[in-house]
Amino acid sequence: MAFKIKTLTEYRDSYQKSIQQPEAFWAEIAENFQWKKKWDKVLEWDFTKPEVKWFQGAKLNITENCLDRHLETRGDKTAIIWEPNDPNEAAVHLTYKQLHEQVSQFANVLKNNGVAKGDRVCIYLPMVPELAIAVLACARIGAVHSVVFAGFSSVALASRIKDAQCKILLTSDGSFRGNKTIELKTIADEALKETPSIETAIILKRTGGAVTMQDGRDKWWHEELEKVDNNCPAEEMDAEDMLFILYTSGSTGKPKGMVHTCGGYMVYTAYTFQNVFQYEEDDIYWCTADIGWITGHSYIVYGPLAQGATTVMFEGIPTYPDAGRFWEVVEKYKVTQFYTAPTAIRALEKFPLEVVEKHDLSSIKVLGTVGEPINEEAWHWYDKHIGHGKAPIVDTWWQTETGGIMISSLAGVTPQKPTFATLPLPGIQPVLLDDEGAPVTGSPAQGKLAIQFPWPSIARTIYGDHQRYKDTYFSAFTNKYFTGDGALRDEKGFYRITGRVDDVIIVSGHNLGTAPIENVINQHDAVVESAIVGFPHDIKGNALYAYIILHEGVDGNDALRKEINDLIAKNIGPIAKCDKIQFVPSLPKTRSGKIMRRILRKVAADELDNLGDISTLLNPEVVSAIIKHRV
Ligand code: PRX
Repeated sequence: MAFKIKTLTEYRDSYQKSIQQPEAFWAEIAENFQWKKKWDKVLEWDFTKPEVKWFQGAKLNITENCLDRHLETRGDKTAIIWEPNDPNEAAVHLTYKQLHEQVSQFANVLKNNGVAKGDRVCIYLPMVPELAIAVLACARIGAVHSVVFAGFSSVALASRIKDAQCKILLTSDGSFRGNKTIELKTIADEALKETPSIETAIILKRTGGAVTMQDGRDKWWHEELEKVDNNCPAEEMDAEDMLFILYTSGSTGKPKGMVHTCGGYMVYTAYTFQNVFQYEEDDIYWCTADIGWITGHSYIVYGPLAQGATTVMFEGIPTYPDAGRFWEVVEKYKVTQFYTAPTAIRALEKFPLEVVEKHDLSSIKVLGTVGEPINEEAWHWYDKHIGHGKAPIVDTWWQTETGGIMISSLAGVTPQKPTFATLPLPGIQPVLLDDEGAPVTGSPAQGKLAIQFPWPSIARTIYGDHQRYKDTYFSAFTNKYFTGDGALRDEKGFYRITGRVDDVIIVSGHNLGTAPIENVINQHDAVVESAIVGFPHDIKGNALYAYIILHEGVDGNDALRKEINDLIAKNIGPIAKCDKIQFVPSLPKTRSGKIMRRILRKVAADELDNLGDISTLLNPEVVSAIIKHRV
């Protein structure tokens, strides 16, 4: 590929050019794609509105770039290797030709069911090939996909469907995860009671479990496929047309539907995939994320396929049938690039080394991490036992909002440093700011991380709520995108992400806002008020600690704790359950009535000798009561 950076000097040159002549830089990269019509203008932006437009006037279809253009040279190359949950079930290998046919055919199913350009399609599926096919089929006809992670509850699913006013739901009878079966259709049925916008649900048979099909609404996937052929021309899309919506939690209120558009997202995910992972033609690349998250969108589906890569999709979990499953799969397919989350590394590190050592991992050339800061110990374990000290590790910092990787080393090309994401990618202009918004210059330095210039895959808005987009990302600091993260910069200019500086907590690599969980807890009849904080956890990185005030006379016991966690699981999903729940007489508050979370965080982390000044509290006496009864 013409834009592959192969040396440190090339990285430096590219970076310089991307800052000095951003439009020329990105235009040159964009030349490597297939456009139905080229752009009139590369970039127009104004962070005060905020408005960002890349490749205006250009026409394309992302699936022509991910599929059609490879047919001549890579038609028989494997595009997707699908590894099922059960190692005894047959894997699926789809060539580019087969994937092209199956995407086209399913695109016709969507059309046949009344889906047109611009309509929103909710996808609630396990990690099966049909999930990737459905995503691409939407893109083929210009429908906007909204993938909802299949671990979310019916309430979470319903609220996302309602927010985007989706017309159709794609789901399955159930899903396999380890030795569990989850009845997705039953969960979806619950959600569909509240979502009048859904006219049709198409159900994939995966587990074979019993389901109730609602007449006139529910249809079987395989039956729908029989009604159509596999010839579906790609819809012509404007570069700035919506490609997808993907929800992410905010520190307050309902989840934010981040909107990504066609042109810039394609260019940036392909460019970063190629350069960060240093993909070569015969490599076998595996990202263990779920397509329900941005990592799966950008680095299982779009980025790799745009580059004609072979991408592995895994349905199962790292510990089934045993804790060697990842390594077994690496050996089975001779995976060359392996990309996972620190939480998975920490979980697997706890098992005896034989589990790793019995597998041949010599194919691995590059290792990657994403989703949360990686601790020193996990980094070294990964380096030594998985990479055998010879595979560069890319620690990739980015967000649902950024669409693609922002700060990371380029494997083996730019330097790495344990626990540091290191350097910004070409086109990315990070800046550290103090609380007043003044840039912290020089290095070493520490501050809040913002980005001061647009990049092609920045989310364009929050679906249906542009004001919230502005308030959340562009109001803290004038003319800058605020990430919500804090960071350090060392004397060489390498960045290390230190964690969130807002009320978002990253648990096992998943973003969880405190307010939405508190809102759920407060719905329980026994509860007056609650506050959630994060505390350090060996495997999850952070876990949740809830402080809850109960109504007079209610007994705060384990049965109630379970009820509260069940309520959270039902309304959000099991990932948002609290590890610790403490019933408290009241919460420490400032005179203006704001909960002093800083104190609650310290108590949860057992940092009791460093509580800071509590004399300004309205009710300082509550602090000792909370400490005394901490769990
Ligand atoms: O806090 C940062 C953390 O994950 C947040 C973004 O979460 P999400 O939108 O779910 O996207 C995750 C996958 C891209 C960031 O604000 N984060 C992500 N990657 C890293 C990270 N923290 C430290 N190091 C990383 N490599």
